[in-house]
Amino acid sequence: MATFSTSSNRPYHIVIFGATGFTGQFVVEEVARTASEGPKGNLKWAVAGRSKAKLDKVLEQAAEALGRPELQSEVAVVVADVGEPDSLAAMCKQAVIVLNCVGPYRFFGEPVVKACVENGAHCIDISGEPQFLESMQLDYQDKAAEKGVYIVGSSGFDSIPADMGVIYTRDQFKGTLTAVESFLTASSGPEGGCIHDGTWQSAIYGFADSDKLRSLRKKFGHKSLPVVGARIKRRGALFFSNEIQQYAVPFMGSDPSVVKRTQRYLHDELQESPVQYGAYAGVGGISNIFKLLFAGMMFWFFVKFSFGRNLLMKFPEFFSFGFFSKEGPTRKQMEGSSFRFAFFGEGYTEGLEPTEGKPNAKIRTLVQGPEAGYVATPIAMVQAAITMLNESNSLPKTGGVYTPGATFAKTTLIDRLNKHGIQFSVL
Ligand SMILES: NC(=O)c1ccc[n+]([C@@H]2O[C@H](COP(=O)([O-])OP(=O)(O)OC[C@H]3O[C@@H](n4cnc5c(N)ncnc54)[C@H](OP(=O)(O)O)[C@@H]3O)[C@@H](O)[C@H]2O)c1
Repeated sequence: MATFSTSSNRPYHIVIFGATGFTGQFVVEEVARTASEGPKGNLKWAVAGRSKAKLDKVLEQAAEALGRPELQSEVAVVVADVGEPDSLAAMCKQAVIVLNCVGPYRFFGEPVVKACVENGAHCIDISGEPQFLESMQLDYQDKAAEKGVYIVGSSGFDSIPADMGVIYTRDQFKGTLTAVESFLTASSGPEGGCIHDGTWQSAIYGFADSDKLRSLRKKFGHKSLPVVGARIKRRGALFFSNEIQQYAVPFMGSDPSVVKRTQRYLHDELQESPVQYGAYAGVGGISNIFKLLFAGMMFWFFVKFSFGRNLLMKFPEFFSFGFFSKEGPTRKQMEGSSFRFAFFGEGYTEGLEPTEGKPNAKIRTLVQGPEAGYVATPIAMVQAAITMLNESNSLPKTGGVYTPGATFAKTTLIDRLNKHGIQFSVL
Protein backbone atom coordinates (compact mmCIF):
# COMPACT_ATOMS: atom_id res chain seq x y z
CA MET A 1 0.00 0.00 0.00
CA ALA A 2 1.29 3.47 -0.82
CA THR A 3 1.46 5.37 2.45
CA PHE A 4 -0.48 8.49 3.27
CA SER A 5 1.57 9.04 6.42
CA THR A 6 4.02 11.39 4.66
CA SER A 7 1.05 13.48 3.64
CA SER A 8 -1.06 13.37 6.77
CA ASN A 9 0.28 16.57 8.28
CA ARG A 10 -0.18 18.56 5.08
CA PRO A 11 -2.52 21.51 5.41
CA TYR A 12 -4.94 20.46 2.64
CA HIS A 13 -6.49 17.13 1.73
CA ILE A 14 -7.36 18.53 -1.69
CA VAL A 15 -5.95 21.39 -3.77
CA ILE A 16 -7.90 22.16 -6.96
CA PHE A 17 -5.37 23.40 -9.52
CA GLY A 18 -6.93 25.27 -12.46
CA ALA A 19 -9.88 26.29 -10.30
CA THR A 20 -10.43 29.36 -12.50
CA GLY A 21 -11.10 27.30 -15.64
CA PHE A 22 -14.53 26.54 -17.03
CA THR A 23 -14.43 23.02 -15.58
CA GLY A 24 -12.43 24.05 -12.51
CA GLN A 25 -15.23 26.31 -11.25
CA PHE A 26 -17.66 23.36 -11.18
CA VAL A 27 -15.07 21.17 -9.44
CA VAL A 28 -14.86 23.89 -6.76
CA GLU A 29 -18.64 23.77 -6.30
CA GLU A 30 -18.61 19.96 -6.12
CA VAL A 31 -15.84 19.88 -3.49
CA ALA A 32 -17.74 22.47 -1.42
CA ARG A 33 -20.90 20.34 -1.70
CA THR A 34 -19.18 17.14 -0.57
CA ALA A 35 -16.70 18.45 2.01
CA SER A 36 -18.47 16.51 4.78
CA GLU A 37 -17.44 13.24 3.05
CA GLY A 38 -13.76 13.97 3.66
CA PRO A 39 -11.68 12.27 6.36
CA LYS A 40 -13.44 12.55 9.75
CA GLY A 41 -16.14 14.58 8.04
CA ASN A 42 -13.84 17.53 7.73
CA LEU A 43 -12.19 18.15 4.40
CA LYS A 44 -9.45 20.75 4.34
CA TRP A 45 -9.08 22.22 0.89
CA ALA A 46 -7.68 25.02 -1.25
CA VAL A 47 -8.06 26.42 -4.74
CA ALA A 48 -4.97 27.11 -6.86
CA GLY A 49 -4.20 28.96 -10.06
CA ARG A 50 -2.09 31.74 -11.44
CA SER A 51 -4.23 34.71 -10.38
CA LYS A 52 -5.27 35.33 -6.77
CA ALA A 53 -7.91 37.83 -7.85
CA LYS A 54 -9.50 35.30 -10.21
CA LEU A 55 -9.41 32.58 -7.53
CA ASP A 56 -11.14 34.89 -5.02
CA LYS A 57 -13.80 35.56 -7.65
CA VAL A 58 -14.30 31.83 -8.26
CA LEU A 59 -14.90 31.30 -4.53
CA GLU A 60 -17.38 34.17 -4.46
CA GLN A 61 -19.27 32.82 -7.45
CA ALA A 62 -19.27 29.27 -6.06
CA ALA A 63 -20.67 30.54 -2.73
CA GLU A 64 -23.42 32.34 -4.64
CA ALA A 65 -24.25 29.27 -6.75
CA LEU A 66 -24.44 27.12 -3.60
CA GLY A 67 -26.48 29.66 -1.65
CA ARG A 68 -23.77 30.11 1.01
CA PRO A 69 -22.77 33.46 2.52
CA GLU A 70 -19.11 32.88 1.62
CA LEU A 71 -16.44 30.18 1.19
CA GLN A 72 -13.27 32.23 1.82
CA SER A 73 -13.15 31.45 5.54
CA GLU A 74 -12.96 27.67 4.93
CA VAL A 75 -11.03 27.55 1.64
CA ALA A 76 -7.43 28.69 1.14
CA VAL A 77 -6.02 30.27 -2.01
CA VAL A 78 -2.67 29.11 -3.46
CA VAL A 79 -0.96 30.90 -6.34
CA ALA A 80 0.86 28.56 -8.74
CA ASP A 81 1.79 28.64 -12.42
CA VAL A 82 2.73 25.69 -14.65
CA GLY A 83 5.60 27.80 -15.99
CA GLU A 84 7.07 28.31 -12.50
CA PRO A 85 8.32 24.98 -11.08
CA ASP A 86 8.98 26.41 -7.60
CA SER A 87 5.36 27.52 -7.30
CA LEU A 88 4.19 24.02 -8.34
CA ALA A 89 6.52 22.40 -5.79
CA ALA A 90 5.23 24.72 -3.05
CA MET A 91 1.62 23.88 -4.00
CA CYS A 92 2.27 20.12 -4.07
CA LYS A 93 3.99 20.14 -0.67
CA GLN A 94 0.78 21.45 0.88
CA ALA A 95 -1.57 18.88 -0.68
CA VAL A 96 -2.42 15.25 -0.04
CA ILE A 97 -4.13 15.21 -3.46
CA VAL A 98 -3.90 17.73 -6.30
CA LEU A 99 -6.99 17.77 -8.51
CA ASN A 100 -5.51 19.02 -11.76
CA CYS A 101 -7.96 20.84 -14.06
CA VAL A 102 -5.32 22.66 -16.17
CA GLY A 103 -5.46 21.55 -19.81
CA PRO A 104 -4.74 20.84 -22.61
CA TYR A 105 -2.71 18.30 -20.65
CA ARG A 106 -0.30 17.68 -23.51
CA PHE A 107 1.00 21.23 -22.91
CA PHE A 108 0.45 21.77 -19.19
CA GLY A 109 0.12 18.33 -17.63
CA GLU A 110 3.64 16.96 -17.24
CA PRO A 111 5.11 19.67 -14.94
CA VAL A 112 2.21 19.03 -12.55
CA VAL A 113 2.75 15.26 -12.56
CA LYS A 114 6.49 15.80 -12.01
CA ALA A 115 5.93 18.23 -9.13
CA CYS A 116 3.40 15.88 -7.51
CA VAL A 117 5.76 12.89 -7.73
CA GLU A 118 8.76 14.84 -6.45
CA ASN A 119 6.84 16.40 -3.58
CA GLY A 120 4.78 13.43 -2.48
CA ALA A 121 1.29 14.58 -3.52
CA HIS A 122 -1.17 12.25 -5.25
CA CYS A 123 -2.64 13.65 -8.46
CA ILE A 124 -6.02 13.14 -10.10
CA ASP A 125 -6.76 14.70 -13.49
CA ILE A 126 -9.57 14.77 -16.05
CA SER A 127 -7.48 14.39 -19.16
CA GLY A 128 -9.07 12.62 -22.12
CA GLU A 129 -5.79 12.63 -24.07
CA PRO A 130 -4.35 9.09 -24.49
CA GLN A 131 -0.98 10.38 -25.61
CA PHE A 132 -0.52 12.39 -22.41
CA LEU A 133 -1.94 9.65 -20.20
CA GLU A 134 0.19 6.88 -21.67
CA SER A 135 3.38 8.94 -21.81
CA MET A 136 2.98 9.80 -18.10
CA GLN A 137 2.74 6.07 -17.39
CA LEU A 138 5.88 5.43 -19.42
CA ASP A 139 7.91 8.22 -17.83
CA TYR A 140 6.67 8.36 -14.23
CA GLN A 141 5.49 4.84 -13.29
CA ASP A 142 8.74 3.88 -11.53
CA LYS A 143 9.31 7.25 -9.83
CA ALA A 144 5.71 7.37 -8.59
CA ALA A 145 6.01 3.81 -7.25
CA GLU A 146 9.25 4.72 -5.48
CA LYS A 147 7.60 7.72 -3.82
CA GLY A 148 4.34 5.94 -2.97
CA VAL A 149 2.38 8.47 -5.00
CA TYR A 150 -0.74 7.73 -7.07
CA ILE A 151 -1.05 9.56 -10.39
CA VAL A 152 -4.54 8.85 -11.71
CA GLY A 153 -5.51 10.32 -15.08
CA SER A 154 -8.82 10.36 -16.99
CA SER A 155 -10.98 10.66 -13.88
CA GLY A 156 -13.79 12.67 -15.44
CA PHE A 157 -16.48 11.66 -17.91
CA ASP A 158 -13.41 10.48 -19.83
CA SER A 159 -13.13 7.72 -18.66
CA ILE A 160 -14.66 6.82 -15.29
CA PRO A 161 -18.11 5.73 -16.60
CA ALA A 162 -16.58 3.45 -19.27
CA ASP A 163 -13.71 2.09 -17.18
CA MET A 164 -15.73 1.48 -14.00
CA GLY A 165 -18.70 0.39 -16.18
CA VAL A 166 -16.67 -2.52 -17.60
CA ILE A 167 -15.54 -3.48 -14.08
CA TYR A 168 -19.11 -3.26 -12.79
CA THR A 169 -20.37 -5.42 -15.68
CA ARG A 170 -17.67 -8.01 -14.95
CA ASP A 171 -18.45 -8.02 -11.23
CA GLN A 172 -22.19 -8.50 -11.86
CA PHE A 173 -21.65 -11.37 -14.32
CA LYS A 174 -21.92 -14.87 -12.85
CA GLY A 175 -19.01 -16.58 -14.56
CA THR A 176 -16.20 -15.29 -16.78
CA LEU A 177 -17.05 -12.12 -18.68
CA THR A 178 -14.94 -12.09 -21.84
CA ALA A 179 -16.14 -9.14 -23.96
CA VAL A 180 -18.10 -5.91 -23.57
CA GLU A 181 -19.31 -3.33 -26.05
CA SER A 182 -20.47 0.06 -24.82
CA PHE A 183 -22.80 2.44 -26.64
CA LEU A 184 -22.82 6.04 -25.51
CA THR A 185 -25.76 8.36 -26.13
CA ALA A 186 -26.10 11.90 -24.86
CA SER A 187 -29.20 14.05 -24.81
CA SER A 188 -29.96 17.67 -24.17
CA GLY A 189 -33.12 19.54 -23.20
CA PRO A 190 -35.01 22.25 -25.12
CA GLU A 191 -32.15 24.71 -24.49
CA GLY A 192 -29.63 22.46 -26.27
CA GLY A 193 -26.10 21.95 -25.02
CA CYS A 194 -22.46 22.17 -25.97
CA ILE A 195 -18.89 21.53 -24.79
CA HIS A 196 -16.43 24.22 -23.73
CA ASP A 197 -13.51 25.31 -25.90
CA GLY A 198 -10.94 23.75 -23.49
CA THR A 199 -11.93 20.27 -24.65
CA TRP A 200 -12.07 21.38 -28.30
CA GLN A 201 -8.45 22.55 -28.05
CA SER A 202 -7.38 19.27 -26.44
CA ALA A 203 -9.08 17.38 -29.28
CA ILE A 204 -7.47 19.51 -32.02
CA TYR A 205 -3.95 18.93 -30.75
CA GLY A 206 -4.67 15.29 -29.96
CA PHE A 207 -5.81 14.52 -33.51
CA ALA A 208 -3.01 16.56 -35.05
CA ASP A 209 -0.50 14.39 -33.20
CA SER A 210 -2.26 11.04 -33.38
CA ASP A 211 0.56 9.34 -35.37
CA LYS A 212 2.88 9.62 -32.37
CA LEU A 213 0.64 7.40 -30.23
CA ARG A 214 1.64 4.22 -32.09
CA SER A 215 5.38 4.77 -31.57
CA LEU A 216 4.76 5.69 -27.92
CA ARG A 217 2.93 2.39 -27.38
CA LYS A 218 5.82 0.41 -28.86
CA LYS A 219 8.09 1.77 -26.12
CA PHE A 220 6.12 -0.10 -23.43
CA GLY A 221 7.18 -3.39 -25.06
CA HIS A 222 3.94 -5.00 -23.86
CA LYS A 223 2.96 -8.48 -25.04
CA SER A 224 -0.60 -8.60 -26.44
CA LEU A 225 -3.21 -9.25 -23.79
CA PRO A 226 -4.51 -12.83 -24.10
CA VAL A 227 -7.88 -13.10 -25.85
CA VAL A 228 -10.10 -15.08 -23.50
CA GLY A 229 -13.20 -16.66 -25.10
CA ALA A 230 -14.56 -15.72 -28.51
CA ARG A 231 -12.82 -12.74 -30.13
CA ILE A 232 -14.92 -9.56 -29.98
CA LYS A 233 -16.40 -8.57 -33.35
CA ARG A 234 -15.07 -5.37 -34.90
CA ARG A 235 -17.73 -2.99 -36.20
CA GLY A 236 -17.45 -0.67 -39.17
CA ALA A 237 -16.76 3.07 -39.21
CA LEU A 238 -20.53 3.70 -39.36
CA PHE A 239 -23.29 1.15 -38.76
CA PHE A 240 -26.86 0.86 -37.62
CA SER A 241 -26.82 -0.44 -34.07
CA ASN A 242 -29.70 -2.73 -33.14
CA GLU A 243 -28.60 -2.33 -29.54
CA ILE A 244 -29.47 1.37 -29.35
CA GLN A 245 -31.70 1.58 -32.46
CA GLN A 246 -29.71 4.33 -34.14
CA TYR A 247 -26.57 4.83 -36.22
CA ALA A 248 -23.30 4.54 -34.32
CA VAL A 249 -19.59 5.14 -34.86
CA PRO A 250 -16.47 4.00 -32.98
CA PHE A 251 -15.98 6.23 -29.94
CA MET A 252 -13.01 8.53 -30.59
CA GLY A 253 -12.22 9.50 -26.99
CA SER A 254 -9.86 7.99 -24.45
CA ASP A 255 -12.18 5.19 -23.24
CA PRO A 256 -10.72 2.32 -25.34
CA SER A 257 -7.16 3.23 -24.33
CA VAL A 258 -8.05 3.61 -20.64
CA VAL A 259 -10.13 0.42 -20.42
CA LYS A 260 -7.38 -1.57 -22.15
CA ARG A 261 -4.74 -0.26 -19.70
CA THR A 262 -7.00 -1.19 -16.79
CA GLN A 263 -7.58 -4.69 -18.13
CA ARG A 264 -3.83 -5.10 -18.59
CA TYR A 265 -3.22 -4.06 -14.99
CA LEU A 266 -5.91 -6.41 -13.66
CA HIS A 267 -4.47 -9.27 -15.71
CA ASP A 268 -0.75 -8.65 -15.15
CA GLU A 269 -0.83 -7.54 -11.51
CA LEU A 270 -3.90 -9.29 -10.08
CA GLN A 271 -4.09 -12.31 -12.44
CA GLU A 272 -7.71 -11.53 -13.37
CA SER A 273 -9.20 -12.64 -16.69
CA PRO A 274 -9.02 -9.71 -19.17
CA VAL A 275 -12.19 -8.39 -20.80
CA GLN A 276 -12.11 -7.35 -24.47
CA TYR A 277 -13.74 -4.00 -25.12
CA GLY A 278 -15.30 -2.08 -28.01
CA ALA A 279 -16.55 1.52 -27.55
CA TYR A 280 -19.19 3.14 -29.76
CA ALA A 281 -21.22 6.33 -29.72
CA GLY A 282 -24.73 6.77 -31.08
CA VAL A 283 -25.12 9.55 -33.65
CA GLY A 284 -28.87 9.41 -34.27
CA GLY A 285 -30.51 9.42 -37.69
CA ILE A 286 -29.49 10.11 -41.29
CA SER A 287 -29.39 13.93 -41.05
CA ASN A 288 -26.91 13.73 -38.17
CA ILE A 289 -24.74 11.40 -40.22
CA PHE A 290 -24.40 14.00 -42.98
CA LYS A 291 -23.48 16.67 -40.42
CA LEU A 292 -20.97 14.34 -38.78
CA LEU A 293 -19.38 13.37 -42.09
CA PHE A 294 -19.08 16.99 -43.18
CA ALA A 295 -17.72 18.22 -39.83
CA GLY A 296 -15.40 15.19 -39.60
CA MET A 297 -13.95 15.77 -43.07
CA MET A 298 -13.36 19.46 -42.39
CA PHE A 299 -11.78 18.63 -39.06
CA TRP A 300 -9.41 16.00 -40.52
CA PHE A 301 -8.41 18.38 -43.30
CA PHE A 302 -7.83 21.49 -41.19
CA VAL A 303 -6.20 19.78 -38.21
CA LYS A 304 -3.19 18.70 -40.31
CA PHE A 305 -1.89 22.27 -40.88
CA SER A 306 -1.07 24.99 -38.37
CA PHE A 307 -3.12 27.50 -40.41
CA GLY A 308 -6.08 25.10 -40.32
CA ARG A 309 -5.67 24.47 -36.60
CA ASN A 310 -5.72 28.23 -35.97
CA LEU A 311 -8.99 28.47 -37.88
CA LEU A 312 -10.48 25.55 -35.93
CA MET A 313 -9.43 27.21 -32.65
CA LYS A 314 -10.87 30.57 -33.65
CA PHE A 315 -14.27 29.30 -34.77
CA PRO A 316 -15.19 26.25 -32.69
CA GLU A 317 -18.93 26.75 -33.11
CA PHE A 318 -18.77 26.99 -36.89
CA PHE A 319 -16.56 23.94 -37.40
CA SER A 320 -18.42 21.74 -34.91
CA PHE A 321 -21.99 22.71 -35.84
CA GLY A 322 -22.35 24.33 -32.43
CA PHE A 323 -21.17 21.24 -30.55
CA PHE A 324 -18.27 23.22 -29.02
CA SER A 325 -18.24 26.89 -28.01
CA LYS A 326 -15.95 29.44 -26.42
CA GLU A 327 -18.57 30.24 -23.77
CA GLY A 328 -19.40 26.63 -22.83
CA PRO A 329 -22.93 25.52 -21.88
CA THR A 330 -25.18 27.63 -19.69
CA ARG A 331 -26.37 26.24 -16.36
CA LYS A 332 -29.84 25.80 -17.89
CA GLN A 333 -28.39 23.78 -20.77
CA MET A 334 -26.44 21.67 -18.30
CA GLU A 335 -29.55 20.99 -16.22
CA GLY A 336 -31.35 19.63 -19.29
CA SER A 337 -28.51 17.36 -20.45
CA SER A 338 -27.63 13.77 -19.60
CA PHE A 339 -25.61 10.77 -20.78
CA ARG A 340 -26.26 7.06 -20.99
CA PHE A 341 -23.73 4.28 -21.49
CA ALA A 342 -25.30 0.92 -22.38
CA PHE A 343 -22.95 -2.06 -21.88
CA PHE A 344 -23.53 -5.36 -23.69
CA GLY A 345 -21.37 -8.12 -22.28
CA GLU A 346 -20.94 -11.79 -23.04
CA GLY A 347 -19.08 -14.64 -21.41
CA TYR A 348 -19.17 -18.13 -20.00
CA THR A 349 -21.25 -19.20 -17.01
CA GLU A 350 -19.59 -20.64 -13.90
CA GLY A 351 -18.17 -24.09 -14.51
CA LEU A 352 -17.78 -23.57 -18.26
CA GLU A 353 -14.25 -23.00 -19.57
CA PRO A 354 -13.92 -19.98 -21.86
CA THR A 355 -11.95 -22.23 -24.21
CA GLU A 356 -15.04 -24.40 -24.76
CA GLY A 357 -17.02 -23.09 -27.72
CA LYS A 358 -19.05 -19.91 -27.96
CA PRO A 359 -20.03 -17.68 -25.05
CA ASN A 360 -23.23 -19.00 -23.46
CA ALA A 361 -24.40 -16.00 -21.42
CA LYS A 362 -25.02 -12.31 -21.88
CA ILE A 363 -25.40 -9.35 -19.55
CA ARG A 364 -26.69 -5.80 -20.03
CA THR A 365 -25.75 -2.98 -17.72
CA LEU A 366 -26.20 0.76 -17.75
CA VAL A 367 -24.25 3.73 -16.47
CA GLN A 368 -26.23 6.94 -16.70
CA GLY A 369 -25.90 10.37 -15.28
CA PRO A 370 -26.23 14.12 -15.65
CA GLU A 371 -24.53 16.40 -18.19
CA ALA A 372 -21.19 14.81 -19.02
CA GLY A 373 -18.56 17.55 -19.14
CA TYR A 374 -19.29 19.86 -16.22
CA VAL A 375 -21.69 17.99 -13.93
CA ALA A 376 -20.68 14.32 -14.21
CA THR A 377 -16.97 15.13 -14.61
CA PRO A 378 -16.69 17.10 -11.32
CA ILE A 379 -18.73 14.41 -9.52
CA ALA A 380 -16.47 11.64 -10.85
CA MET A 381 -13.26 13.53 -10.12
CA VAL A 382 -14.26 14.57 -6.62
CA GLN A 383 -15.59 11.11 -5.69
CA ALA A 384 -12.32 9.61 -6.93
CA ALA A 385 -10.48 11.94 -4.54
CA ILE A 386 -12.85 11.23 -1.62
CA THR A 387 -12.40 7.48 -2.23
CA MET A 388 -8.62 7.85 -2.29
CA LEU A 389 -8.67 9.79 0.99
CA ASN A 390 -11.00 7.38 2.77
CA GLU A 391 -9.99 3.98 1.40
CA SER A 392 -6.22 3.93 1.17
CA ASN A 393 -6.15 0.22 2.12
CA SER A 394 -8.09 -0.73 -1.02
CA LEU A 395 -5.84 1.08 -3.52
CA PRO A 396 -3.05 -0.65 -5.51
CA LYS A 397 -0.26 -1.95 -3.26
CA THR A 398 2.31 0.50 -4.59
CA GLY A 399 2.17 4.00 -5.95
CA GLY A 400 2.30 4.42 -9.71
CA VAL A 401 0.60 5.97 -12.74
CA TYR A 402 -2.79 4.31 -12.93
CA THR A 403 -6.13 4.36 -14.67
CA PRO A 404 -9.28 4.91 -12.57
CA GLY A 405 -10.21 1.23 -12.97
CA ALA A 406 -6.82 0.03 -11.74
CA THR A 407 -6.92 2.45 -8.80
CA PHE A 408 -10.51 1.99 -7.68
CA ALA A 409 -11.52 -1.57 -8.75
CA LYS A 410 -11.38 -2.76 -5.12
CA THR A 411 -12.93 0.35 -3.53
CA THR A 412 -16.52 1.56 -3.09
CA LEU A 413 -16.19 4.23 -5.80
CA ILE A 414 -19.18 2.84 -7.73
CA ASP A 415 -21.41 3.00 -4.61
CA ARG A 416 -20.27 6.55 -4.00
CA LEU A 417 -21.01 7.53 -7.62
CA ASN A 418 -24.46 5.92 -7.32
CA LYS A 419 -25.19 8.18 -4.36
CA HIS A 420 -24.13 11.23 -6.36
CA GLY A 421 -26.25 10.71 -9.47
CA ILE A 422 -23.96 8.61 -11.69
CA GLN A 423 -25.97 5.42 -11.60
CA PHE A 424 -24.74 1.89 -12.34
CA SER A 425 -27.42 -0.77 -12.84
CA VAL A 426 -28.04 -4.22 -14.33
CA LEU A 427 -30.87 -4.43 -16.86
N1 LIG B 1 -12.66 14.20 -18.94
C1 LIG B 1 -13.64 14.98 -19.27
O1 LIG B 1 -14.69 14.53 -19.56
C2 LIG B 1 -13.39 16.47 -19.26
C3 LIG B 1 -14.45 17.34 -19.03
C4 LIG B 1 -14.20 18.70 -18.99
C5 LIG B 1 -12.91 19.17 -19.23
N2 LIG B 1 -11.91 18.28 -19.48
C6 LIG B 1 -10.53 18.76 -19.74
O2 LIG B 1 -10.15 19.67 -18.74
C7 LIG B 1 -9.23 20.62 -19.29
C8 LIG B 1 -9.70 22.03 -18.96
O3 LIG B 1 -10.85 22.32 -19.73
P1 LIG B 1 -11.62 23.70 -19.53
O4 LIG B 1 -12.71 23.70 -20.52
O5 LIG B 1 -11.93 23.90 -18.11
O6 LIG B 1 -10.48 24.73 -20.00
P2 LIG B 1 -10.25 26.25 -19.60
O7 LIG B 1 -11.53 26.90 -19.24
O8 LIG B 1 -9.45 26.84 -20.70
O9 LIG B 1 -9.35 26.20 -18.28
C9 LIG B 1 -7.98 26.07 -18.30
C10 LIG B 1 -7.43 26.31 -16.92
O10 LIG B 1 -6.00 26.15 -16.98
C11 LIG B 1 -5.41 27.27 -16.36
N3 LIG B 1 -4.07 27.51 -16.92
C12 LIG B 1 -3.73 27.74 -18.21
N4 LIG B 1 -2.40 27.95 -18.29
C13 LIG B 1 -1.92 27.86 -17.01
C14 LIG B 1 -0.62 27.99 -16.44
N5 LIG B 1 0.45 28.28 -17.16
N6 LIG B 1 -0.49 27.84 -15.10
C15 LIG B 1 -1.57 27.57 -14.32
N7 LIG B 1 -2.81 27.43 -14.81
C16 LIG B 1 -2.98 27.59 -16.15
C17 LIG B 1 -6.35 28.42 -16.64
O11 LIG B 1 -6.05 29.47 -15.73
P3 LIG B 1 -6.37 31.03 -16.02
O12 LIG B 1 -7.79 31.22 -15.56
O13 LIG B 1 -5.39 31.75 -15.18
O14 LIG B 1 -6.22 31.26 -17.50
C18 LIG B 1 -7.67 27.73 -16.37
O15 LIG B 1 -7.89 27.64 -14.98
C19 LIG B 1 -9.16 20.34 -20.78
O16 LIG B 1 -8.01 19.56 -21.04
C20 LIG B 1 -10.41 19.52 -21.05
O17 LIG B 1 -10.29 18.64 -22.14
C21 LIG B 1 -12.12 16.96 -19.48
